[in-house]
Amino acid sequence: MPALKTEPLSPAMGVRITGLDLHAASADLIGSLRTELLRHHLLVVAHQNLHREELQAFGCAWGELLTHPASAHAENPYVQILASRNGVRGRGYGAWHSDMSWHPTPPWITMLHARTLPSWGGDTGYANQHLAWQALDRAAKDRGRMFRRDLPDAEAIAGLDANHSGKRFGAKAPDSVHPVVRLHDESGSLALYVNPEFTSHIVGIEENAAKLMLYALWVHTTGLEFCYRHRWSPGDLAIWDNRSVMHTSILDYDEPRALTRVVVKGDAVLRGAPKAVA
Ligand SMILES: [Fe+2]
Repeated sequence: MPALKTEPLSPAMGVRITGLDLHAASADLIGSLRTELLRHHLLVVAHQNLHREELQAFGCAWGELLTHPASAHAENPYVQILASRNGVRGRGYGAWHSDMSWHPTPPWITMLHARTLPSWGGDTGYANQHLAWQALDRAAKDRGRMFRRDLPDAEAIAGLDANHSGKRFGAKAPDSVHPVVRLHDESGSLALYVNPEFTSHIVGIEENAAKLMLYALWVHTTGLEFCYRHRWSPGDLAIWDNRSVMHTSILDYDEPRALTRVVVKGDAVLRGAPKAVA
């Protein structure tokens, strides 16, 4: 496999890769990038210039692309254009999420290509959910048993399931139930898998208690020690593993911003650890 020129982006995750042209990327190069992605969860390939069809072709080399309800009627529904003409400064932070977690087989990869950028602002935040799981204290990991006596004592939270709703994108978008703690199906690492954008409730737990649990988890999972904030440069192509990280768009800019996006279909979300006692 070809050697890649990489430099770390942060202690929490990510590498920046230079010296590549992703037009007609070889299978060997895709293999090398995939290895780096599993290790670092986020890649930023610098200095790319991929038109929509070229980004689509590059994405297809990683798997089946998913469409999104918001782009169903677009000219090319596989390449979403995330554009803001007037800017959104003053609206604070977009919510943290893992892309399309409401889908029964949520995308394992998102690729986002910077095309038009404001002169400042519009960064994207990333949070490493493997680190968040590892740092979750024992009491929080065991807390699920307070509400579900059928769960084992240790790390009972991993026996819980949460509902993720896509209804903000229309009635036809599904809801899906996934484990609160997921097993990464390639690395075998555990990660928290709830997010404030799409997770509506925890299955089988009274609404207010579930909200308290979710809010506490969200505060924990976005701790700065798990995070990296990416300041985009024109031509950056970010590739991240939604099984490992959450992200958020920082809505602090007031100039045009446009990025193109493809997402690669994943598999069903695997449970991370203890199952309910029979
Ligand atoms: Fe997103």
